[in-house]
Amino acid sequence: MLPDSTRMMSGLCRDAHQDDKGCFLLLWKTRNYLTALLQIKFSRGLLGDANTRPMLILSATDTLQERTMEHYWQALEQSREGFMERGAMMFPALSESLDVDAYAREIMQEVVGRTFCASSPTHARLLDALEVRNELAPVLHGMAREHFGYQGSLEDQYHIARLVTPGNSTEQYRAHFDSHLFTLVIPLIIPTATDGNEAGELLYRPNARRHPRSELENTAGKVWFKRYANRERATRLLEKKQFTLENFAERRPMLFSGRTTLYTNRAVSLAASGPRLTLLAHFFDPSPRYGVGKLLRTLRRR
Ligand SMILES: [Fe+2]
Repeated sequence: MLPDSTRMMSGLCRDAHQDDKGCFLLLWKTRNYLTALLQIKFSRGLLGDANTRPMLILSATDTLQERTMEHYWQALEQSREGFMERGAMMFPALSESLDVDAYAREIMQEVVGRTFCASSPTHARLLDALEVRNELAPVLHGMAREHFGYQGSLEDQYHIARLVTPGNSTEQYRAHFDSHLFTLVIPLIIPTATDGNEAGELLYRPNARRHPRSELENTAGKVWFKRYANRERATRLLEKKQFTLENFAERRPMLFSGRTTLYTNRAVSLAASGPRLTLLAHFFDPSPRYGVGKLLRTLRRR
């Protein structure tokens, strides 16, 4: 009996290869792949100010049904330099090839009322189905070694689900940098809100600081930027276009450079249409054992 993850992936592959459109499908895939590469090429030529550089965005129509998961993450490999320069990129929507809602419902049941839940069974199955560990992580590991001199293990990953219910007054405006080199946001349940009410939207600023060269610099930067961890200052940065707002309406995963991107979430207000569920995948913490991030994660797991 194959493990769930293997059976799920073989199912995806089988569906792709048994399609009776044969050569047409192959040409279609090739066309989409080349389109994605061209988009990356052109967007790389549009560099502006460091804070207003366009993010790398792959075509929304370039869904996983038309590309294998391998190619999905390989697009990052093709645009390594562009990503490192801009600090963030978005991937195509997952919902057309995976039953994201079914995964979300199961994960909701596993989280059962907590705000954070590390690697629940369905969460782990979804990561396997997306080939996050097999395909994405090795690409990121190569980038970490090349760009940051990272010496640590490929297995240094931290996967956590974040569930914020309407009216949760603590999970809002906590602007911070991550300790890990890369953070991937996988949006599963995204509420809406009307009349100017907040629904947990992400506010982020890539390249808000340089990559810290020591734990002291890392910690000092975290403390310094804490001044933006409140609604008033975050809103002011948004008005000045120094924060970008992402509502994840299309449920497209987003990758960013964790240690240099300042980010926070707006509140999930009582007026929001429901809870907000995202999966956060963190890759490679170069901090020593006494680092702030490792200490906080240890406390969170207790
Ligand atoms: Fe974070």
